[in-house]
Amino acid sequence: MVNSYLDIGVQSRMNRIISPKDNRVVMLAIDHPYFQGPTTGLRNMSVTIKTLLPYCDCLMTTRGAVRANIAPEDVGSKPIMLRVSGGNSVLFEELSDEKLTVTIRDAIRMDAAGVAVSVFIGSANQQQTILNLTDMINSAEEYGIPVLAVTAVGKNMARDLRYLALASRICQDAGARIVKTYYCEEFSKLVDWVAPTAVVVAGGKYSSPPDAMKMAYDSIQAGAAGVDFGRNIFQDKNPVGMIKAIGSIVHGNHTVKEAMDIYNSCLPGATKLD
Ligand code: R5P
Repeated sequence: MVNSYLDIGVQSRMNRIISPKDNRVVMLAIDHPYFQGPTTGLRNMSVTIKTLLPYCDCLMTTRGAVRANIAPEDVGSKPIMLRVSGGNSVLFEELSDEKLTVTIRDAIRMDAAGVAVSVFIGSANQQQTILNLTDMINSAEEYGIPVLAVTAVGKNMARDLRYLALASRICQDAGARIVKTYYCEEFSKLVDWVAPTAVVVAGGKYSSPPDAMKMAYDSIQAGAAGVDFGRNIFQDKNPVGMIKAIGSIVHGNHTVKEAMDIYNSCLPGATKLD
């Protein structure tokens, strides 16, 4: 609900990201090369985007990927959640050493609907990454741009309710409008504890279509606004079937079985992305 004139810009962009029709979103995460370089399924990113863009509600990606890989005719067709933190690579074990990498001015130039910052709670760089988030919120909110916080927890911390809720709640308190986190047992508690901030669920490593669909289903049932899946979609042998199936769970409240039927109907002729 819009509660002040100052929130009109934020609400407008939030409505582009999370449909006000059902308060749900299928965000497609294709930001992985920002720290891991050529990634299976994203090596030819223009093909990946062309193939999957019609079926997602929002594309989470990086400045360079937007500039280099979105076909001119597709620019503006889907809102962009622009990753604006980074500065590390898989060559270093400690991935939490991130800083802000994109100015709010450039995010506005690119017509970003929102900007995303990673926060690593319990890591060596906890304070730095929380301050990355708050610095970006301070800049972005001035221009009516919502900030999504990508939560990560320290290497030795379990991805369970205790730590994921800790990370998510810290991000909400910092002022994030959307929190991205991992699914865990008792996930509905996490959603309740950060309400009314929208929660989207990361997919994690490629698993299998039924497992990824079950995670999406359980997340939605627990009250998540949607998913921000990457590898479980673009690394599947049937990426279009996968994103359509996930969409049916998120927007149509389909069961895993119903979603698998959609997936299987797209299998003939499906092509794996490079
Ligand atoms: C991680 O920092 C990135 O934001 C990824 O986009 C995120 O982990 C989601 O992708 P996946 O579903 O492949 O885990």
